[in-house]
Amino acid sequence: MLSYTSHCLQALLGVASLPYRQYQAYSSPQAPLQVPQVPQAGPPITTLVSSCAGFSYPEVACIDRYGSLLQGEFERKVRNVLGDADTYISTNAPSEPTFSDLQNADFLVWNQSAAKAILGPNPHVDFMFSIEDCSHEAPVYVPTTNELYFSRLQQGFLPQLVINLNNDPPTLEEKLAQPPIYAATGARFRDGLLYLATIGGNESLAGYTFRPGLYTLDPITGKTQALLNNYYGYYFNAVDDLDIDHEGQIWFTDNDYGRPCQVNTYAPQINAATYRFNPKTGLVTMVDDTLLEPNGLTFSPDNKTVYLTDTGAGSAIIDPNIYPAPHIAYNSTRKGRTIYAYDVAPSRKALLNKRPVYLSMEYAPDGIKTSREGYLVSATGKGVVVLTDEGEPLVRVQTNFTVINIAFAGAERDELWAIGKGGVARIRWGLKGSYA
Ligand SMILES: *[C@@H]1O[C@H](CO)[C@@H](O)[C@H](O)[C@H]1NC(C)=O
Ligand SMILES: *[C@@H]1O[C@H](CO)[C@@H](O)[C@H](O)[C@H]1NC(C)=O
Ligand SMILES: *[C@@H]1O[C@H](CO)[C@@H](O)[C@H](O)[C@H]1NC(C)=O
Ligand SMILES: *[C@@H]1O[C@H](CO)[C@@H](O)[C@H](O)[C@H]1NC(C)=O
Ligand SMILES: *[C@@H]1O[C@H](CO)[C@@H](O)[C@H](O)[C@H]1NC(C)=O
Repeated sequence: MLSYTSHCLQALLGVASLPYRQYQAYSSPQAPLQVPQVPQAGPPITTLVSSCAGFSYPEVACIDRYGSLLQGEFERKVRNVLGDADTYISTNAPSEPTFSDLQNADFLVWNQSAAKAILGPNPHVDFMFSIEDCSHEAPVYVPTTNELYFSRLQQGFLPQLVINLNNDPPTLEEKLAQPPIYAATGARFRDGLLYLATIGGNESLAGYTFRPGLYTLDPITGKTQALLNNYYGYYFNAVDDLDIDHEGQIWFTDNDYGRPCQVNTYAPQINAATYRFNPKTGLVTMVDDTLLEPNGLTFSPDNKTVYLTDTGAGSAIIDPNIYPAPHIAYNSTRKGRTIYAYDVAPSRKALLNKRPVYLSMEYAPDGIKTSREGYLVSATGKGVVVLTDEGEPLVRVQTNFTVINIAFAGAERDELWAIGKGGVARIRWGLKGSYA
């Protein structure tokens, strides 16, 4: 596979690295009058990575023409390691002397005009806390207490991790809810409560039984309440992420990741799918079953579009006879590294017009949120990508750990917190989150 690839690259590069004017020789002799007198200008061959006007370099690095043309030999070696896959900057491009500057960049800029407002005057990425080298999830800002909650996906681990943003620098502590929440992976704040999607399932843990589902947590009292724990008697497999629309309906994903993450004792009973749940009536209905592993879910700021991430490139063995279930296996060529957009039907009961909008440049898109202007902000590999609502890259934030999920925080929602394997980072910039 690899030797075949490099052979193909050689052939491709021989052509791609020629200046366009040399294509003259290939012009069709049958149509001599149509050959332009002046050589056709191709894309100018410029410096690939350079400083962006108004920002320090290489902390903020501008990439020319989306890096679509790399000179000379290059190769990005695939690294199929869950939570530690190959990155864009791991590409080896020795004939591009500026490419290695990206190693020291906090922000990669694909679109300089959009980046001005995204970055603001003084963008910063700060590594805030070193945490266990396992997945952390469900970051959510609590405006009433100025705290950021998140969770750790570890067998038997029940507290919530809570960052107190009233302290400078912020401090991290554990809080145990009553009854506890097991393995939350998605969270939103509404009307004083945290709404949590959980993938934890266990018949006997600290004296409780846990099932994947939807729960609320009151951040003032620490009291929790179950909202949804079954589909007509079946357990959900892994209720991974949720968002709440202006009608109060909770839309959520259910995938197969509970057992391979060692936090659910039960193998899936139903297929992975996306649902909407009306907490007023209890009605839960499936709205999409086409993704391999539906994961992140967010509404656009106008609530007319739903974005779903598919992380199916990380596959789970669902056979109940295989016990214990092996960990998720990541494969970069497998489908499921994609953000999909859907229109919400006028009835707000169905999803229409599914379309892929973005194939992740790193790993798979996991947590997803939107900014006030409707940009997509998604945890992808070692960082966070900012895209237009149609999936065009604008800016990428780089971190030294794999980011699993993100949350806007602060009174103005102008900080983004990135939570992942082994780290918590705070991004201070110009972008603001779309909702409370
Ligand atoms: C940069 O982003 C802005 C805002 O989304 C968009 O209008 C513009 O077309 C983009 N520029 C390029 C060169 O893609
Ligand atoms: C439930 O959780 C406990 C504590 O982590 C663990 O020892 C036990 O094996 C789990 N139950 C099953 C059936 O896996
Ligand atoms: C979309 O829903 C959110 C959450 O309920 C709400 O705050 C916002 O006002 C809604 N936006 C529109 C345009 O209806
Ligand atoms: C990765 O997926 C491809 C199909 O996309 C398959 O041919 C290959 O065998 C897989 N590799 C592993 C290690 O599973
Ligand atoms: C990431 O960087 C921080 C400091 O900036 C360091 O403490 C941490 O160990 C680094 N993590 C990894 C995985 O390199």
